[in-house]
Amino acid sequence: MATDRLLTNQPLPQDEQINWALRPTEIGEYIGQRDLIERVRIAIAAAKGRGDPLEHMLLHGPPGLGKTTLAHVLANEMGGKIVATSGPALTRGTDLVSALTRLGHGDILFIDEVHRLPIAVEEFIYPAMEDFRIDVTLDSGMAARTVQVRCKPFTLLGATTRAGLLSSPLRSRFGLVHHLQYYDLEDLVRILSRSAGLLGLRQTDPESLDAIARRSRGTPRIANRLLRRVRDYAAVKADGRVTMQTVLAALKLEGVDDAGLDELDRRYMRTIATTYRGGPVGLEAVAATLSEDAGTLEDVVEPFLLQVGFVARTRRGRALTQAGCDHLGVDYTGADKPGESGGLFQA
Ligand code: ADE
Repeated sequence: MATDRLLTNQPLPQDEQINWALRPTEIGEYIGQRDLIERVRIAIAAAKGRGDPLEHMLLHGPPGLGKTTLAHVLANEMGGKIVATSGPALTRGTDLVSALTRLGHGDILFIDEVHRLPIAVEEFIYPAMEDFRIDVTLDSGMAARTVQVRCKPFTLLGATTRAGLLSSPLRSRFGLVHHLQYYDLEDLVRILSRSAGLLGLRQTDPESLDAIARRSRGTPRIANRLLRRVRDYAAVKADGRVTMQTVLAALKLEGVDDAGLDELDRRYMRTIATTYRGGPVGLEAVAATLSEDAGTLEDVVEPFLLQVGFVARTRRGRALTQAGCDHLGVDYTGADKPGESGGLFQA
């Protein structure tokens, strides 16, 4: 299934245990996202100086870039605890009340996928964010009355991949709003180097980590997952050391190519190249040819291909770009350019 891919930026069940061991717990260990880290350092120092909790913070950006990791780092730096939940898990106002009343002064309420918070719950959260109180309605009809439940001054840390879907009243209540960027090669190599140390991988040569980083789609979660695949391969098929040779052999076996594309990415591109002559073609048509769900392709395949410029979204549908054709080794038809109809495609 498309969502079970090695290269997905969604967390996989097998990631969880090991990821906790690799995640930084202190801000000094956090690699990359320099602007964000600088802003957070200032916010922490200022809040600590005043004895206040951190301001409410909204982190948005693609999955796998460290939003949850940062939530734990922040709680640790503030000397508090974290209560973690997600938008879809908070179905009723009382779910939120139970989360809020578990918080102590300065603790962090982490709400992942905050854009999926139901409207009914969102209304409870405004007075909680502003005045640290929750208005609970008891009984109904004539007997209805509202009681105020107080909670401790806390920090709401919201995370979302879809900041555009947040209502503006909710968005405006966050003091700090930051977009997480994809990691550059240098930062990914540093993260991999740190992870290799923590996993006890000795004598790992820098070029081999660079080769993993290049295939990691700018995403630490993927980088660490690939490193674990390489580690296993090295342990079973070689002498345990991570070398360029083991990286290339392990990732070839996993179907990961030198641009970090997997078989599903390549099938998607090959379908546009051959069946649809380079495009433009509607997503539904590509999905039908591949027997995949269109929404899945849009969420898990296209973002990276668009980001690296292998595919373009035109008004008339998806089309391969020059770089995409070069990567597949097929002739370019210019189908991604506005006004081009796309000539005969030779695969
Ligand atoms: N592991 C995953 N993400 C990381 C980061 N940003 N810094 C350090 N280690 C990490």
